[in-house]
Amino acid sequence: MTRPTPVIYDCDPGIDDAIALLGAFVSPELDIRAITPVCGNQPLDRTLRNALQICELGGRDDIPVHAGCHRPLCREPIHGQFHGATGLGNTVLPAPRKQAEATGAIACLADHLGRAARGEGDRITLCCLGPLTNIAMALRMYPEIAGGIERIVMMGGAFREPGNRTLTSEFNMLADPHAAQIVFAAGLPMTVLGLDATHQVMLRPEHVTQFAQSSGRIARTVAELMAFWDRNDAARYGSRGGPLHDPLVTAWMLRPDLFESRPARVFVETESPLCLGQTVADWYGKTGGAQNARIVTRVDAAGVIDLYVGLMSRYRERGAA
Ligand code: BDR
Ligand code: CA
Repeated sequence: MTRPTPVIYDCDPGIDDAIALLGAFVSPELDIRAITPVCGNQPLDRTLRNALQICELGGRDDIPVHAGCHRPLCREPIHGQFHGATGLGNTVLPAPRKQAEATGAIACLADHLGRAARGEGDRITLCCLGPLTNIAMALRMYPEIAGGIERIVMMGGAFREPGNRTLTSEFNMLADPHAAQIVFAAGLPMTVLGLDATHQVMLRPEHVTQFAQSSGRIARTVAELMAFWDRNDAARYGSRGGPLHDPLVTAWMLRPDLFESRPARVFVETESPLCLGQTVADWYGKTGGAQNARIVTRVDAAGVIDLYVGLMSRYRERGAA
């Protein structure tokens, strides 16, 4: 087998974050060096707690969890509307025994990426599932760490699709538009899974049933989380099913062949009250600057669902049913 890819998951769990993490936990292709929760779907104390609980649910309390930023860079915090009061729907997980590390997310990113930039450690792929506050803050404090980033694979943005939180803007971008603009302007290799991609993978009730049947306790928990998600999005989108946003990041890491992307230069609106957080893509080089991202345009939805059913079934094989 090829060497596992070193990754750090920056996230704001969040139902779909939880599913992305649980998929990654059973993927030997990924070497998860750390998890860095951030304020997003819920305030930081809750996203941190959820991350710790998800690690324990998935049997991965070996992964260090470092608390990230309590607030976005400039704007007032906003939180997710479709993840329930705790961020994990109606799912009640035991109080975590695992504790967060004493060092915070920025120190963690500076350490891993700094060593990589100096040639003393592996370059790291950042899997970003939430607002980009931690990443922007780390880049602002320690610009030299950019050299340690192999790639950023992120869920966020809306290009040809309308926004999901405002008319123009996707939640992760709206929650910290200034951070997103800093990260896009950093000139790093980026793969962007925006709503154009995630709306192609609608998780329908029959898929939820498939998950519920695919394995034991953990898959049933995933099915429960998904059922909560599905119910909300069915009302929201006028169709059955909910988009599988963050899990596409893990899916891209494991099976990039399921995705098609196009290069573009991405900007994030940071001023307009109407369009705050809008991601604007220059597909044709009209602005004259370098392309800074690959935007995913097509997804093999059936392939992604099959991938996740297979990932969840691994929990039974590992005796975590
Ligand atoms: C994104 O917003 C959050 O609510 C989800 O976790 C996902 O990261 C989708 O717009
Ligand atoms: Ca998220």
